[in-house]
Amino acid sequence: MEKQKVFSLSEVSLHSSKNDCWLIIHGKVYDVSKFLDEHPGGDKVLVDASADGDASDAFEDVGHGTAARSIMNNYSIGVLEGSDPFLVGGYPQSLRTKDKKASSPITSLLQFLRPLLPVILLGMIWYYFSSKGKMPQSP
Ligand code: HEM
Repeated sequence: MEKQKVFSLSEVSLHSSKNDCWLIIHGKVYDVSKFLDEHPGGDKVLVDASADGDASDAFEDVGHGTAARSIMNNYSIGVLEGSDPFLVGGYPQSLRTKDKKASSPITSLLQFLRPLLPVILLGMIWYYFSSKGKMPQSP
């Protein structure tokens, strides 16, 4: 695999004007200077997002579709220094939030119990009917 160029945050932040605009999205660095005029959301949002530092949340909040995700590959120039290699690339925010939720102890317990649910229910029904048979009959 080709080695990616690594940029520091301060280096990226030097490029946030209408003529020279770099974006950080999910740990990757994009030079969108030549895309500004074509962006359906306009050039201003891109320049603003560039000045704000990490544009990942702004990018996901808009709900960009697959078209945007494939276009952005053409403008990738490298990765951000210190970014997690497992999260680099169009890894949607919603999936990251889901991962976090799944790690809470209650969710883990529910996930563990879910496959056992039919067995527990059958056990309860069996217990109910078998204990009914043993009950003393009223006169
Ligand atoms: C390399 C990065 C980006 C690419 C390639 C890109 C591309 C696109 C494309 C193709 C659309 C049309 C809808 C779609 O296909 O999802 C779109 C819409 C839009 N984008 Fe981006 N975008 C990028 C970054 C951003 C960022 C950082 C923002 C910041 C807020 C932004 C804001 C918007 C908005 C507001 C729209 C909606 C326009 C409308 O429907 O009126 N985009 N973008």
